[in-house]
Amino acid sequence: MPSVLVVGSINMDLIVRCERLPREGETAHGEDLLMAPGGKGANQAVASSRLGARTSMVGRLGEDEFGARLRAGLQEDGVDTSAVLADPDASTGVALIVLEPSGQNRIVIMSGANARVGAKDVAKAQALLSGTDVVLLQLEIPISTVAQVAALAREAQVPSVLDAGAATREAVDAGLPGLVDVISPNETEAQTLTGVKVSDLKSAAEAVRRLRAMGASEVVLKLGSDGAYWAGDGGEEHVPAFQVDPVDTTAAGDAFTACLAVDLASGRDMLTALRRANAAGALACLKLGAQPSMPAHDELEAFLAGHT
Ligand code: RIB
Repeated sequence: MPSVLVVGSINMDLIVRCERLPREGETAHGEDLLMAPGGKGANQAVASSRLGARTSMVGRLGEDEFGARLRAGLQEDGVDTSAVLADPDASTGVALIVLEPSGQNRIVIMSGANARVGAKDVAKAQALLSGTDVVLLQLEIPISTVAQVAALAREAQVPSVLDAGAATREAVDAGLPGLVDVISPNETEAQTLTGVKVSDLKSAAEAVRRLRAMGASEVVLKLGSDGAYWAGDGGEEHVPAFQVDPVDTTAAGDAFTACLAVDLASGRDMLTALRRANAAGALACLKLGAQPSMPAHDELEAFLAGHT
């Protein structure tokens, strides 16, 4: 069983479904309000644990009701939260998610305690590195913290996988593409990082090459319903997606990246891992909410067996 360390964000997601997004200055009616655990870090920790990896998380919550509920949820999913700090000086992160009938979403995050993940948490991550097979990072905590953890992982010869959500140019300035072993943006994040608008396989290949030129050794560009485009020292390939009818695409990328990290840490080759990650992403589109939709190991194997 591989061991995964996630250093990242934890949010309570407040989700409203609506017929269409309001225009500027317009008020639109939404449907029911759903509250579900989220945050890219926590989503990936839950996915990693459900997929069978021993998973620990480093991050911060507020000392509030959302914080207590989110910690309990992570623990129920088997994630070790002993390195998750309850910060008395900040509130728990919240994400406001508007969901369109197509399953597509728009997200605004209020970082709260996630913005305070810093030196103390880096030290906790460093202490956990010795028992870790792969470190899983995202960009919803301070970039300087992500860069420090990535550098420590490299020093300790522990591979790292960076999900580049929510990307800013600061990640490039901090040298993150060259500090991690695998970087995985989606199309929007790839555009932020490289300036290339990803609209087809040709532009995907261009964005991936630019990230390689920034020092990234393995780049996995998530293309949603088009699958993933990978480039690394061993080659370059488009891996098509499994087609599903999405209910909610929120956190599909989190399921994808977590599955990729778990599979690489389990010794699977990149192309096999990518096919499985596409399956995990597809499964995550079939249920409402971020963590509620993270697939479990048996679900993933059954889906793959049905799609040979
Ligand atoms: O990737 C999806 C996640 O992004 C949501 O759960 C939300 O919390 C934001 O962090």
